Amino acid sequence: MDYKTLLEKAQEASKNAYAPYSDFPVGACVLAENNKTYVGCNVENASYGLTVCAERNAIAAAIADGQKKITAIAVYSPKMENCLPCGACRQVIFEFQKDAIDVITILEGEVTVHKIVELLPEGFRL
Ligand code: THU
Repeated sequence: MDYKTLLEKAQEASKNAYAPYSDFPVGACVLAENNKTYVGCNVENASYGLTVCAERNAIAAAIADGQKKITAIAVYSPKMENCLPCGACRQVIFEFQKDAIDVITILEGEVTVHKIVELLPEGFRL
């Protein structure tokens, strides 16, 4: 699975975002250990704090399918270049790494790779 394809799947998922309050759609696509992909989009709510980000929804789909670890996650918003995960999502991504997870975004048309440990140094673990 090349990262451009992963980003395309995230882009496709962003079209299903439910974001009537922020008008900021986001899609994410997880690559799991088994080489399968899982998508998610942000799902907002009239009670704003209940909103769930695209990344966490994609990770939840992978976990629900029995995956234990992820190797990469692509994030896409049509409203922002290099759309990186929020702090809460960084911590959730950090939870599921075996080695370093690649966080994939698009910047000026180029696939860009960030390591989760760079985005979240010293993430919390038990
Ligand atoms: N959002 C995500 O889905 N992922 C992020 O990493 C950042 C923010 C969503 C949450 C909310 O629905 C909208 O983007 C604006 O914050």
